[in-house]
Amino acid sequence: MDSATETGTDSVASVEDAGLADLSQAAASDDNVAALERWRLEYLGGHGKATLLKRSIGQQPPDQRKAYGMAVQAVAARLDDAYRAELERARQAALARQLESERIDVTLPGRTPAMGLQHPTTRALDAILAAFANLGFQAVEGPEVEWDFFNFQALNIPPDHPARDMWDTLWIDDQALLRTHTSPMQVRTMRQQAPPLRIVIPGRAYRYEQLDATHESQFFQVEGLLVDERSTFADLKGVLTDFARQIFGERRRTRFRCDYFPFVEPGAEMAIDCFVCEGRDPACRVCRGSGWLEILGAGMVHPRVLEYGGYNPSRYRGFAFGMGAERIAMLRYGIEDIRLLYQNDLRLLRQQRVPPALPPQWSRESPP
Ligand code: FA5
Repeated sequence: MDSATETGTDSVASVEDAGLADLSQAAASDDNVAALERWRLEYLGGHGKATLLKRSIGQQPPDQRKAYGMAVQAVAARLDDAYRAELERARQAALARQLESERIDVTLPGRTPAMGLQHPTTRALDAILAAFANLGFQAVEGPEVEWDFFNFQALNIPPDHPARDMWDTLWIDDQALLRTHTSPMQVRTMRQQAPPLRIVIPGRAYRYEQLDATHESQFFQVEGLLVDERSTFADLKGVLTDFARQIFGERRRTRFRCDYFPFVEPGAEMAIDCFVCEGRDPACRVCRGSGWLEILGAGMVHPRVLEYGGYNPSRYRGFAFGMGAERIAMLRYGIEDIRLLYQNDLRLLRQQRVPPALPPQWSRESPP
């Protein structure tokens, strides 16, 4: 063998030695899959060291070409085999690491997602509307910024009428105001729909109030209006008693007493017997010993209101009622102070898990 061949064979052997050494270094590195790829490019790629050896075969003297070529091919094949084996090992190890890191322990207890709760006023509104839907009442809504005309005049409360003092009004200008009750929707609806009518109107009302445990300046009311050719006060009592039993329990009794609202005649306030003490506890915190809870105002629609609505009062008659949604919520969920409803205290919302018709547990002074 002459010196050229020896030199060529030496360099072939050194490429193999260096390649195998570099390969085990690459395989041992942290990011070995990437390192092995770099190694592949360095040795087996288009300009890799083993590839260059192969290309140099043709430059060898003819008599040495065969032996040199066989040596080069053998080295390239061994490097390739060694590379493939390392790569497979590295991939398996990476997969094992990934499986370990993503392992799911199905025996761990689950995490309960935090569930939102509806606000007590919303729940009360929903319950009120559902109760009246059962009685065939359809819900309609109307504007919160209202004209003096619908809020007062069309309800038989002319300018300077002393009854205006019943509603402390937030004025926008001398004609527009924030509606003080949902009653303006009575005439608005009559003007839009022909009789018979059987509607409930949920919505916000606003008053310039001294705030206390039962008064907010912004609150919800639900108005009701039924108009047909033959309704009587007895129908009013029947509908409202059925409503009260749906909301506060089957055994509820109702009491109607005279009250004054300019837009009804006769007018009444309705109370239910106390569902907490059933009238037996003189120290009851809910009815304060009276045995009765006032829940709404009502009456037969005044003929003048029917006229403002465009209905003929000698042919049509009807009854109307209006209640505070917060008052119903406070009674149903045992909340003693209306201001608690709008302080965004989550404990109050969570307290709704308590079933309805329990004695009040919330007072302004001593939240739990
Ligand atoms: C009225 O507003 C009449 N429009 C109700 C009515 C309709 C009577 C139809 C006859 C026929 P009153 O001012 O009493 O009535 O209010 C009705 C209810 O709204 C009250 O019983 C109370 O529950 C609620 N309410 C009144 N003012 C406030 C307030 N400042 N904060 C919270 N709730 C209130």
